[in-house]
Amino acid sequence: MKFGHFDDLNKEYVIEKYETPLPWINYLGSDDFFTLLSNTAGGYSFYKDARLRRITRYRYNNLPLDQDGFHIYVKDQDTIWNPGWQPVQTPLDDYTCRHGLGYSIIRGVKNKVEVQQELYVPKNDNILLQRITVTNNTDILKEIDLFSFVEFCLWDAMDDSSNFQRNYSTGEVEVEGSVIYHKTEYRERRNHYAVFYANRPVDSFDTSRDSFMGVYGSPRSPKAVVNGRCGNSIAHGWQPVGAHHFHLVMKPGESVKIILGLGYVEVPVEEKFIAPSVINKKNAHALMDKYYTDEQFDAGLAQLKKFWDNLLAGFEVRTENEKVNRMVNIWNAYQCMVTFNMSRSASYYESGIGRGMGFRDSCQDLLGFVHMIPERARERILDIAATQKEDGGAYHQYQPLTKKGNSDIGGGFNDDPLWLIACTDAYIRETGDWGILDEMVDFDNKPALAAPLMEHLRRSFNYTLNNLGPNKLPLIGRADWNDCLNLNCFSEHPGESFQITGPSEGPVAESVFIAGMFVKYGREYGNILKHQGKTEEAEKAYEAVNKMSETILDKGWDGEWFIRAYDAFGKKVGSAECDEGQIFIEPQGMCIMAGVGVKTGEAQKALDSVKERLDTRFGIVLQNPAYTTYRLNLGETSSSPPGYKENVGIFCHNNPWIIFAETIMGHGDRAFELYKKTCPAFLEEISEIHRTEPYVYCQMVAGKDAPTFGEGKNSWLTGTAAWTFTVLTEGILGIQPDYDGLRIDPCIPHTVSEFKVNRLFRNTVYHITVKNPDGVEKGIRSIRVNGQEIGTGPVPVINAREAEVEVLMG
Ligand code: BGC
Ligand code: NOJ
Repeated sequence: MKFGHFDDLNKEYVIEKYETPLPWINYLGSDDFFTLLSNTAGGYSFYKDARLRRITRYRYNNLPLDQDGFHIYVKDQDTIWNPGWQPVQTPLDDYTCRHGLGYSIIRGVKNKVEVQQELYVPKNDNILLQRITVTNNTDILKEIDLFSFVEFCLWDAMDDSSNFQRNYSTGEVEVEGSVIYHKTEYRERRNHYAVFYANRPVDSFDTSRDSFMGVYGSPRSPKAVVNGRCGNSIAHGWQPVGAHHFHLVMKPGESVKIILGLGYVEVPVEEKFIAPSVINKKNAHALMDKYYTDEQFDAGLAQLKKFWDNLLAGFEVRTENEKVNRMVNIWNAYQCMVTFNMSRSASYYESGIGRGMGFRDSCQDLLGFVHMIPERARERILDIAATQKEDGGAYHQYQPLTKKGNSDIGGGFNDDPLWLIACTDAYIRETGDWGILDEMVDFDNKPALAAPLMEHLRRSFNYTLNNLGPNKLPLIGRADWNDCLNLNCFSEHPGESFQITGPSEGPVAESVFIAGMFVKYGREYGNILKHQGKTEEAEKAYEAVNKMSETILDKGWDGEWFIRAYDAFGKKVGSAECDEGQIFIEPQGMCIMAGVGVKTGEAQKALDSVKERLDTRFGIVLQNPAYTTYRLNLGETSSSPPGYKENVGIFCHNNPWIIFAETIMGHGDRAFELYKKTCPAFLEEISEIHRTEPYVYCQMVAGKDAPTFGEGKNSWLTGTAAWTFTVLTEGILGIQPDYDGLRIDPCIPHTVSEFKVNRLFRNTVYHITVKNPDGVEKGIRSIRVNGQEIGTGPVPVINAREAEVEVLMG
């Protein structure tokens, strides 16, 4: 069942049924101020850090679901309703929610009164703007009471939801006409406050939640709304809120527009107060002045749309499949930008108070956004590298505010360092900026330890070689990509961390997956050295890589597929010898992407095994058979019931690795068949099963062993975004940025006879037309650039604004 439709022209998803299977959200904000917004106007705002500067409250796993947010209440005589349906849930006569790029428009109609909320965060300002348009479509004079409502968070979201003995006494506000200032803790160490204003005089207001909702009240039936007026309350402690009330008298056909702004304002410490306890409002006034009129509102929105159009124009595809086009041109690229902004911090599944930035997560996210914002990618690489430890190991996470490695979780996730090579190589291939390798970058955030980025890559590479196990395969440490395969952890007590219990230097547990990574990214490292003229060092690197490749085929090959790991007792994980967990997806994908066994037949065998043992209607499961009991020697992977998460869920993140592997083997039909299985646009028709948004990927889909097979979870913040974008554009469409040009080598379904791509690469827009007259899946006969034959490529970097490229497959 569908709950809406794609409007590709406007780059929007239009939700038509408000009762979606789960809240379907959007992200507003692209710089420092962000808002998560659901299709019924639930959500929250924060400045920079979802934990430390939370502006409004949000209660996860609450009942009723998704009741905190940016709701507008309408009282039309005895009918109380919201344009987004929630929280009152009065059935609406008509409803749409348009989620666009960085903005959303929610529109509800009840008894011929229409209320529309347009919401966005403008470029470069710390404010959530809303324009409310109320239209009286009846033929009588209408008196309508309209209310806004937000509930402030007392800044540190963790403390806000736990330290009640203090927090119930600290809340403070000021009110100035239609402007409500939330200034809790400003009296002491904060030099920031929030402001919630309207560009129209209020008829009443509230800043105390008790006054607006009633002490025992509920968002479904707020006391003030029922009464038709707020209590003009001033909050003293308890729960500070912001509510505006407007009494509207509207002629038939009349429309009223009201602008609301929720801003974050900083004040220099020495200018905090203008009188005892009276905050300095100058910067707030300046912000409000910028967004007070309709013209200003429209201009800000137009600027935002232009920003997104420009970003997305860098890669535009026209194939005969509109779902592919809309994913590549709009939604998948958009999701890549959201993962750039959020990492894994704030979504409807990530509370914003948990993880900081993941080392491996951030490196992989970069693969999906480097072509859109190369300068920010550069900055990100240097930030990540600066947290690297001296021995080449990595802090598994770092904090976005301090940009320092997080010592609570520490290091020892032995795949981490190699991802730094992956993202740096992708950056250089995209930009040709070899200079980044000479940048001086701290180790362990200590300037005294700074060394060129190239040295960081060297230590990443050597880290694997310095940490080999008894089979000469890389030691896994705390875990590799699969955070839940905890081979050295042995956690027996509830509440212990699976990942950091037990020694990080596990004695013998080894990972074939990291071995595959070493071959793939170690070869890239060798290529970088070679390109820099460091021939001898490059040769040594290739030697180590080739040796690892042989070791994989010797110790990491099970006969029909690649083994996953050796555990702390030297026993195989992911082998036919095992009673459960016989075959895992990760080493099949990574080893074949690295080229291991491609010429000697193992790769094909492994892909056949994947098809036979791991493939399902909704994608490839992580391993098989599922663990039916908890295994002390394996850890968290065996803690979910079969079918969920790392215990045989469909991890959308590594499905693209298998798709890549299929493209390497030249199987365009199979690659595309797999692409479609997890691609949200292809699942739109079964939204009642899939449940998460049909416009973005989720991390995990319940696998075949789960009672809820096909149900998605953890949408938005996942490395899936970057990997699916990369596999579609580089693997299937075959447009591959390389050091000295653009390689073009598609691997497509044989039925595709032609497609076109506009690709911005090093300041030139390449207009690429690929023709496939013989119906092949892979293979290039010739390439012409501006009419000139160039063999099979790569297409060179040219000094022009545009170039025409014709590619003939066959
Ligand atoms: C999840 C993993 C995640 C890890 C992060 C686990 O519970 O299943 O997907 O990577 O937590 O800490
Ligand atoms: C989510 C984590 O963010 C990522 O780092 C990890 O690789 C996957 N889960 C798989 O465990």
